[in-house]
Amino acid sequence: MLKVKMKKAINKQLNAELYSSYLYLSMSAYFESVNLKGFANWMNVQAQEELSHAMKFYNFILERGGKVILSNIDPPQTEWNSPLAAFEHVYKHEQKVTSLINSLVDLSISEGDHATNSFLRWFVTEQVEEEASADEVVEKLKLSGKSAGGLFMIDRELAQRVFAPPTAQTQVEVNKTSGIWQQELSGIMNIIPGGKNDKETTNL
Ligand code: FEO
Repeated sequence: MLKVKMKKAINKQLNAELYSSYLYLSMSAYFESVNLKGFANWMNVQAQEELSHAMKFYNFILERGGKVILSNIDPPQTEWNSPLAAFEHVYKHEQKVTSLINSLVDLSISEGDHATNSFLRWFVTEQVEEEASADEVVEKLKLSGKSAGGLFMIDRELAQRVFAPPTAQTQVEVNKTSGIWQQELSGIMNIIPGGKNDKETTNL
């Protein structure tokens, strides 16, 4: 049985995960509006992933005999200045979610709630991946600079992301994305003026 304080905190996190889903769906809509379909797809998958996180908390509350209390979801931002600005927002948001998860872990320890502590470990690991995924796209966008070719390649790559249920998702996506990114990175470096594979610049 969940203690009142823990139940309240997990219900709050459930709302935070729903907000994350809402935020990324809004980003997906933004990318659709600027015809970056691959970016839109990545955000759409991310929105589904966040919904699955919310459902993990939802089911956990029920399993522990608690009552789920749904509350208002804040309206998300709807416009960003650039793909880089949007992904920097994702990275910052995930850092915030990590701090929320860490606070929940702290609470589970101070409350002596071992079951919740064990449940939260999945999220601790997940947040490492969430931050890394966002940061990698941020770094790639910075590398591509204003190169339309670079942006197109990243868009094409992000179009390949597919949603997988949380349990199967982590390793599959890590393998998939890291493999794709390693392949594509050298391609992007070929396009960026001054990039390490830019032969003209190198020969100057
Ligand atoms: Fe549910 Fe992106 O953390």
